[in-house]
Amino acid sequence: MTPDKSIERVAVVTGAAQGLGYDIAAALASLGHRVALLDRADDVARSAATLQARGTTAAAHCLDVTDEAAVQRTIAAIEEAWGDVGILVNGAGITGRKGAHKTAVVDMDPSDWRRVITTNVASAFLLCRACIPGMQRARWGRIVNIASQAARARTERSNAHYAASKSAVLGFSRGLAHEVASSGITVNCVAPGRIATPMTVQTGADVDAAYSAKSAVGRVGVPADVTAAVMYLTSEGSAFMTGATVDVNGGYSMN
Ligand SMILES: NC(=O)c1ccc[n+]([C@@H]2O[C@H](COP(=O)([O-])OP(=O)(O)OC[C@H]3O[C@@H](n4cnc5c(N)ncnc54)[C@H](O)[C@@H]3O)[C@@H](O)[C@H]2O)c1
Repeated sequence: MTPDKSIERVAVVTGAAQGLGYDIAAALASLGHRVALLDRADDVARSAATLQARGTTAAAHCLDVTDEAAVQRTIAAIEEAWGDVGILVNGAGITGRKGAHKTAVVDMDPSDWRRVITTNVASAFLLCRACIPGMQRARWGRIVNIASQAARARTERSNAHYAASKSAVLGFSRGLAHEVASSGITVNCVAPGRIATPMTVQTGADVDAAYSAKSAVGRVGVPADVTAAVMYLTSEGSAFMTGATVDVNGGYSMN
């Protein structure tokens, strides 16, 4: 198998200011890829600066990834500066209204429903739509959409809008995978279980303990667990894998 280090690509990672997106961006940059970190949080500038300080090529783009015009402008600017995007990782996501407790559907605010669905699904659509023409020109592309265990099974803490949005990501990815396969583009999902990031910190240690007790490996995940799967799915060697979902949950879903 050809080592990936020999081919340096242009990579776009959304939700890259922190958490899983940042860890994935750092790993792609360490392989020599030029990495654009996209996030609505201003912190994305600091995250890109940290990667630059390691001698890697990284750039920050502060935008809301549900904003169609901003997405088009940003991808055009990245292509202008670095060339066509080869690797796209859609990591931006939200769980809904902040709070430790699950919200019943009957208590769910329709505006929160729309925000979760738009952030988690439409952003992936907009980014794919903007990046695929460049991948088709190059006849090579790797798209990874970060879904969730909430799309694979019932989970105690996930709200129904979050589960619906992540299930939509799986369906969207399968449909797209079929559509672009003949252009050398693969589209896959990673479905993480509970991973220690700023997103999960808000729900607390008791949830971590309950998850650890139920998972086969006896712990919650760390970002590197998810990044390892994404590194495979963005590699040269993963060309024959498309339309798949990789579960990274410490065996929780065997319950
Ligand atoms: N941490 C987990 O346990 C877990 C489990 C399953 C799936 N996931 C999924 O993994 C992805 C990353 O999760 P995380 O734990 O790193 O979350 P996080 O909250 O730590 O990071 C998410 C990032 O996305 C950015 N973001 C959100 N909405 C955005 C928007 N509209 N425009 C631009 N940026 C936006 C946020 O600013 C933030 O930097 C999400 O899609 C999440 O649903 C996480």
